[in-house]
Amino acid sequence: MKLTIIGTGYVGLITGACFAEFGYETVCVDKDINRIIELNQSKCPFYEPGIEELLNKHLNKTKLLSFSNSLSQSAESADIIFITVGTPSKRLEDDADLSFVWDVAREISNNIKKYCLIVTKSTVPVGTTKQVKQLILEKIDENNFDVVSNPEFLREGSAINDFMRPDRVVIGCENQKSENIMRELYRPLNLNETPIISTSIESSEIIKYASNSFLATKISFINQVANLCEQVGANIQDVAKGMGIDKRIGSKFLHAGPGYGGSCFPKDVKAFINTANKHNVDLSILSAVNNFNDQRVSEITNKIIAKSNLSKGDTAAILGLSFKPNTDDIRDSTSIKIGKILNEKGINVKSYDPVAMDNAKKENPFLTLCKNAYEACEDVKTIIIATEWNEFRALDLKKIVNNKNNLCIFDLRNIYKSEEIKELGFDYFGTGK
Ligand code: UDX
Repeated sequence: MKLTIIGTGYVGLITGACFAEFGYETVCVDKDINRIIELNQSKCPFYEPGIEELLNKHLNKTKLLSFSNSLSQSAESADIIFITVGTPSKRLEDDADLSFVWDVAREISNNIKKYCLIVTKSTVPVGTTKQVKQLILEKIDENNFDVVSNPEFLREGSAINDFMRPDRVVIGCENQKSENIMRELYRPLNLNETPIISTSIESSEIIKYASNSFLATKISFINQVANLCEQVGANIQDVAKGMGIDKRIGSKFLHAGPGYGGSCFPKDVKAFINTANKHNVDLSILSAVNNFNDQRVSEITNKIIAKSNLSKGDTAAILGLSFKPNTDDIRDSTSIKIGKILNEKGINVKSYDPVAMDNAKKENPFLTLCKNAYEACEDVKTIIIATEWNEFRALDLKKIVNNKNNLCIFDLRNIYKSEEIKELGFDYFGTGK
């Protein structure tokens, strides 16, 4: 089977590299020529554990993977074309911006020469895949292609494992022919007995938004309960454990923290609310999830300022800048948002992150970046552990050089036990405990 993947962002590259690992001849296409040049040298534009090894293997050894900035050649011979371009939020609205999807659909319609499947893997609002079909029908006969929705559920930082061992694969098809081709494509996953869920195109598109929105709901829920725990002397970690052991609830995504960030949850929750509004359906539960998450960063930052008595000219350390560990992605990162608020109030911000400092510095020149966590924590009034990177889990806090009294540690991800930190003489504040 020959595959073409259009868009070499996060989803496109992981998908391309993993399909090559399955043994398929895969061409990844992007109009950004500089990106293609770098990819042809196995250089990945983002940090993701394992991706460069996979690119290198299939680009140079098996030669199953190639990169191109021209759609026409690979589209002509492809059996399946995946659309994996970005669907960011529109500038002034919460709706998904689909302009890249429409551009690609038009380009595909100018280039296919034999029957192929056109698959939307980008996260697109319900109805989009059928609109892609309408666009292509302007140029191509309906017998010469089918459209499919096949959303991804990849988590940054563990995307390759998520692709190779998914909880499920969802395929939204209109007919048996396209379903059979998609089942054949994912046949290598039969070994792990991965459930392949076949639905209508509309259901498949909704599954993606509903899944991300539900996980975001779990997070906002546990964060609200964490606030209550703080008021009544309860411990959110014990509460989450007691809840999560109930199989109907599940323990995942019940970690209280500074709120969800990243390139998916914030944008997908907003876009899903928008879809519901357009269809006059009450999805107000998600508006509450979204509003609470939007306010959480400033509430937490105000708490940090008040509890550690931070004022203009003081210095705080932020450990971790990416929106979660094992990625250099700083999109909608709560750490960066906290840093920005502190900076606006005249508080200096020293910081360290294992891989996200280059990305962070580009857009946030106010950050003073340090060689390691210890240097970042030197002579500050407050330490904020914002992202739960493994290397922050066992810091030798006695090594922190500090002339300030009452050094406060805000462990936003609850990676330490309060008693241990307090014994060392720090003022400790976790989340929800
Ligand atoms: C998410 C989905 O998990 C994935 O299936 C989808 O395809 C893309 O979006 P990702 O954004 O990479 O993946 O990260 P994820 O691990 O889901 O975390 C998202 C945010 O929620 C992060 O900011 C994380 O810190 C936060 N989070 C997660 C919590 O605050 N508590 C939790 O218990 C879990």
